[in-house]
Order: sequence, then C-alpha cells, then structure tokens
Amino acid sequence: MKNNYLVIIFVLTFFLTLQNIPTLKAQQYDIYTGLGAVPSSQTWYICSKQETNYINYVMKVVDTDQLPTQNFGTNVQGNHPLQYPGILGLLTYATNFTGIQLFIDPQAKFSIYWSDLSCFDFPALECNREKNPPFDAKTIICLGVSNPQDTDQKFVLSISFVYGIPPPPLLTVPPKQTNTSSIVPSTSNPTPTNDVPDNPPYFYATNNGLSIIMSNINNIGLLLIIFVILLSTIFILNNN
Ligand SMILES: *[C@@H]1O[C@H](CO)[C@@H](O)[C@H](O)[C@H]1NC(C)=O
Ligand SMILES: *[C@@H]1O[C@H](CO)[C@@H](O)[C@H](O)[C@H]1NC(C)=O
Repeated sequence: MKNNYLVIIFVLTFFLTLQNIPTLKAQQYDIYTGLGAVPSSQTWYICSKQETNYINYVMKVVDTDQLPTQNFGTNVQGNHPLQYPGILGLLTYATNFTGIQLFIDPQAKFSIYWSDLSCFDFPALECNREKNPPFDAKTIICLGVSNPQDTDQKFVLSISFVYGIPPPPLLTVPPKQTNTSSIVPSTSNPTPTNDVPDNPPYFYATNNGLSIIMSNINNIGLLLIIFVILLSTIFILNNN
C-alpha cells in the first residue's frame, strides 16, 4: 500500500519536472492562432520559436471589422507579389528562416520555399497544409502570407509547429456589416507606388533538400566529437 503511494508520488514528480524544463515548455506553446491583416501587395509572416521538423496550418480569408490580434506575426513591405486578376484570396509561403528572410527582403534576387506546404501558385481563400511525416531534421520554419489583391485583406490562421498537436480551432470573427442602402463612394483611392521592386524568382525546395543539409551538419558534428575524443586519448596516452 505504502509503496503504491510512493510510486504515484515519484511518477507525478517526474512529470511535473518534465513540465518545467524550459525547452519542453516553450515547445508546447509553439502554436499560434489569431486574426491577421495584410495591406495590398504586402506580406505578413510568423516563424517557429524553436527549431522544429513540423508545420500544420489552416488559413482562411475573412471579411470583418474586427481588429487584428496583437503580437500575432509581423507585417512587412516585402516583395511585390504577382497579381492574379479576378482570383480572390491570399498566397501562403512555407519556408525556413533563410527563405523567409529572402522572401521579405525587397532587394533579394531569389527565394526558396516548400511548394507542397504552400498555396503560392494561385491565391487561395482557404489553405490547409501539414508536413506529415515530419522532416528528418529540425530548423526554424516560417509561414508568409502575401496579399496579391489591390485592397487590404484579413485572414484567420491557426498554426502548430509541434508534431502531434494539431492547430487550434480558427478564431470566429463577426462578418463585416455591409450597408447596401447607402454605398458611399470612396474618396481616397489608394495610390499605387511605382518604386515596388520586381518579383524575384521563387524556387521550390524538395522536402529532402533541407533534411539532407541538416543531416550533413549532424554528421560533421559527430565527426568533430570523434576527432576530439581521439585527440584527447592521444594526449592522455602521451602523458603516461
Ligand atoms: C447604414 O446606412 C444608414 C443610412 O445611411 C446609416 O444610418 C447606418 O448607420 C449605416 N449602417 C452601417 C452599419 O454603416
Ligand atoms: C533553408 O533551405 C535552403 C534550401 O533547402 C538551404 O540551402 C538553407 O541552408 C536552409 N537554411 C536553414 C537555416 O535551414
């Protein structure tokens, strides 16, 4: 009887300790949900806080007066996305940290992304993607959302970078109140700027490209450790 209690206390202590290990805890929270807004021809993006091998997201374009969620992603000018006249929606761009840096840099000559984890060929009103099975190696994973429309757009997004945990349900937002009786003509037309850079070419990354590079790094790390062990062994032997 007494032993059973001891076992329960030990198991509980073990799990409570696990919970408090900072990296595990932070990883638990590498999941985001909210309402974002992107001005015309600009980009919004979010990255995993931890290195991860997993991404699972749901993006849905919404029309609402609700204000965007605070501290949810980052808005940047970015590169001017291609225009798709007559096709409504937003473009999603899944990539690693290097890829997002290039994507949002108007001076960049090219960028790279995972086409099978993105909706980047055509604007989409809704886009769901999951990397399952996950990548072999971990890295910072990012998602960009670009607005190819000539008006501001809003979207709800839920994203999980933690394998085994699905993205939380999308935020429900009240639809925009439209006034059909009195359509007020808009006096301030958005003035398009002429100094927007051209779209750089976007290259597809194969799913394995990234993993191979990462596992090579791991192999180099392993070789280094073996090398250091060998060196210290020689050192110890010489000293004897
Ligand atoms: C709709 O239009 C009417 C008449 O112009 C105005 O009184 C009302 O406030 C408007 N409602 C909204 C939601 O804009
Ligand atoms: C991002 O992916 C590209 C292409 O696969 C690769 O060359 C680059 O090293 C990766 N960067 C990081 C930080 O993982």
